Formats: sequence, C-alpha cells, structure tokens
Amino acid sequence: MEIFRTVAELRAWSRRERNGGNTIGLVPTMGALHAGHVSLIHASRASCGFTALSLFVNPTQFGPKEDFARYPRAFEADCGLAQAEGVHALFAPSVEEMYPAGAATFVEAGDLGNRLDGASRPGHFRGVATVVAKLLIAAEPDRAFFGQKDAAQVAVIRRMARDLRLGAEIVVCPTMRDADGLALSSRNAYLSVEERAQALVLARAVRRVEALAASGERRTGVLVAAAREVLAAEPAVRVEYATVVDWATLAPVETATPGTLFAVAAWVGGTRLIDNAVLE
Ligand code: PAJ
Repeated sequence: MEIFRTVAELRAWSRRERNGGNTIGLVPTMGALHAGHVSLIHASRASCGFTALSLFVNPTQFGPKEDFARYPRAFEADCGLAQAEGVHALFAPSVEEMYPAGAATFVEAGDLGNRLDGASRPGHFRGVATVVAKLLIAAEPDRAFFGQKDAAQVAVIRRMARDLRLGAEIVVCPTMRDADGLALSSRNAYLSVEERAQALVLARAVRRVEALAASGERRTGVLVAAAREVLAAEPAVRVEYATVVDWATLAPVETATPGTLFAVAAWVGGTRLIDNAVLE
C-alpha cells in the first residue's frame, strides 16, 4: 500500500493506473475506521481494479462548537486495517494540503445544505461538498463509494457530482450495523455503556417504520408518529428530527413511495447520532 500526503502524488498515481487500463475506486473517510468503512472498501475492490482510501478529518464540515478537536483519530490502526483490506493507495493529507493558506473557494450545497442535518449544522454540507469535490478532483476516480448511513450527505454529494459534472459514479452502500442493530459510526466511541443501550432506540424506530411501510402504510404522518412513539420510550434520547423525505430533494413528503427516505437524528448525552431507512 502506498501512502500519499499530497494531491499531486495521489493524482499522479491515479493517472498512472488509469493509463494502464485500470479503474480507480475512491473511498473518502475521516478515519477511525470501522466495519462500515470496510464495507465501502470491499465494494470498491469488487468493482474497481485499484482502490484509494482517504483519511482526512475535514475541519470545514464541523461547526465552531462541534467535536473537530476531539474527533477520534487512529492513524496507525487505520493504516493497518486499510493495508489488510487490500487498499492500494492511502491518502492522508494535512489541513494545509487540502486548504492552502488563504483558501476562499467553497462548494455551496444550495437548498439541500439547509435540510435535515444541515438545518441544525449550518455550513456542514458546504464543508462536505467542498472536501468531496476536492477529493474527486484530486483522485479522478471512476467510482466513489459512500454509505447510506449518511443519507442526506449522499443526496448532497450526488447533486454536487452531477452539477459540477465531476464524472465519477457515486455508489451508495448499505448501512452496516452491530449485531444489536446500532448503526456503526466513529462517534459511537463517545457513548458510555448506558448511552449505547439508549442509542438502540434509533435502530428500533427505523425498523418500526420499515415494517409499517412494508405492510403498506404510505401516510408519512402515521410513519413519523410511530417512529416518535418508539423514540419516546427512551426519554434520555433527545430527538432532533424524525421525518420522511424525498431522497433527492430532502423535502418532506406526505405520501411515501418506493425510494422515499425515513431519517432520524437524535442526541444521546453529548453525542449526536443518525439513522435511516429507504422505504420499499
Ligand atoms: P465518515 O464519517 O468517516 O464516513 C466515511 C464513509 O463511511 C461515508 O460515506 C459514510 O456514510 C460511510 N459510513 C459510515 N458509517 C457507515 C455504516 N455504518 N455503514 C456503511 N457506511 C458507513 O462521512 C464522512 O466521513 C465525511 O463526511 C466525508 C464524506 C469523508 C467527507 O469528509
């Protein structure tokens, strides 16, 4: 596995392999790798000749009061895991490499940037759209792999890649969960044993909505009410949103149709968690 610190090195590698007739897959991450990230590596390796993984805790997607400073960082462990999973190129740039001194150019996410997580995290999706655009421009991949776990992020990135005609195919992979259903997240490391048990209510709400939708319920008011009833069983969990939206526009819908997204965000102690389901 090669380790690159600069965009120029990553781009040279990608161009060399592509000129050799290979396809390139890119898996963008902020590190503290878990089985969710590994599933993206597997998807890339299954469909691309070469896989690059980026490890970059992107400061511009964190608000001033958010957890940028304490976000888990585990470079050595991440390197070992990436190597063991057959990643060909690991891209671990500095903040200065991704944002040269005085950098003033950003990618705006438009309306999408203010919906779901964007409503409570102003500027978050602007930071995501900007860094993912930079990574796609740097790596020039054929495909880039993202998790459905961050469903609003997927909507923002799909739109951005289309609007900017970046060329890479955006591939979305299913949410990986612990055996008890909790969606894997680097932020789960913040949870105490008690909070982790409380956090399971998000997955329970998701399963309840999935089951109701599968039984034919289409009225989103009924779906959301059922989710809120499940969530209310854990008074320590503070719901930020529980909503049914169109996955492309992130706008609320009254009637669920195949592909409609149920999404939930909630605080468990000081940790903000999200989960979702795409309804059938
Ligand atoms: P991060 O939270 O590290 O996640 C990297 C990728 O892994 C994202 O596409 C995310 O959706 C996916 N992922 C996280 N948990 C997952 C799970 N349980 N199952 C499947 N996939 C999962 O998301 C980011 O980083 C950043 O915003 C990034 C896109 C890298 C831009 O900085």
